[in-house]
Amino acid sequence: MEVQGSGAEQPRSRCLLSSHTAWPRTSLIITLLLSVWSAQGLEMSTGKVPFLEALNGSTVLLPCTYASCIGIKNLYFNWQYNDNGTMQKVCESVIPADGMDPHPVSIYRERVDFIGTSDHNNISILLWNITFEDEGQYTCFGRNPKEKGKNHSAIFTLVVVDELRVVDNTLTIIIASAVGGAIALLMTFMLVKNFILFVLFKIEEKKKIECLVQSSSADETNNVSGSRTSKPPTPKKK
Ligand SMILES: *[C@@H]1O[C@H](CO)[C@@H](O)[C@H](O)[C@H]1NC(C)=O
Ligand SMILES: *[C@@H]1O[C@H](CO)[C@@H](O)[C@H](O)[C@H]1NC(C)=O
Ligand SMILES: *[C@@H]1O[C@H](CO)[C@@H](O)[C@H](O)[C@H]1NC(C)=O
Ligand SMILES: *[C@@H]1O[C@H](CO)[C@@H](O)[C@H](O)[C@H]1NC(C)=O
Ligand SMILES: *[C@@H]1O[C@H](CO)[C@@H](O)[C@H](O)[C@H]1NC(C)=O
Repeated sequence: MEVQGSGAEQPRSRCLLSSHTAWPRTSLIITLLLSVWSAQGLEMSTGKVPFLEALNGSTVLLPCTYASCIGIKNLYFNWQYNDNGTMQKVCESVIPADGMDPHPVSIYRERVDFIGTSDHNNISILLWNITFEDEGQYTCFGRNPKEKGKNHSAIFTLVVVDELRVVDNTLTIIIASAVGGAIALLMTFMLVKNFILFVLFKIEEKKKIECLVQSSSADETNNVSGSRTSKPPTPKKK
């Protein structure tokens, strides 16, 4: 069983690739053979993010699309739910040809609606009022008779959560605010420290200036009246 979770664009690009490589005439036959061999007839996709976390009681869409380079005829598809390893069929139907809606879709599970649309190869289903029992893996399966019973599938995982998630959020908020608070505290501390250092520096500077001013004035006084000032300059040269 081929399991695939990548985007729905992949099949299309592969189709493009095979038509491009068919251009050079010299290796036409080889390329044709290769492209027929490699371009898979059918591919199922449950989207780029085949995973959903939803609240119990909510209604969710399980997405699935199919793509085929060689076209489809009586494409059989179903959705299966993996219940502890046993696959339970959720719904199934047959699409007669490209662009046609499936024959009446049989639904085997309660609260399930088929909401696929033929114009976008869309075979998504809707799950109403989900409960915790709905959690698990859902497989979107397809088989195109044009490919002699080759099976293709993609898995979508549904996780059902409670309001408990909100508690998780508050916890992260608490942690975030605690970390933020710690950082703020640290910054305040640094600011205060720097401010104190700055003030101390200024005081020191002021002292120096005062010292200079005083010593220069002392010099002046020395110059003006050199006779009586031999004492004052000495104590200020600390
Ligand atoms: C989800 O489950 C919890 C506990 O099982 C319940 O209390 C709550 O009402 C449920 N929520 C909804 C929307 O059903
Ligand atoms: C699935 O497994 C769980 C735990 O192993 C068990 O409690 C539950 O009853 C099982 N469900 C079914 C349908 O077997
Ligand atoms: C989903 O729940 C709502 C309200 O509880 C109810 O009216 C509705 O019929 C339910 N839908 C299904 C498909 O069970
Ligand atoms: C499939 O169809 C449903 C309903 O029309 C839509 O909500 C959803 O987006 C479609 N999904 C894709 C992959 O086109
Ligand atoms: C495809 O799946 C069916 C069951 O749906 C199984 O019987 C068959 O053997 C599978 N074919 C291949 C080629 O795996």
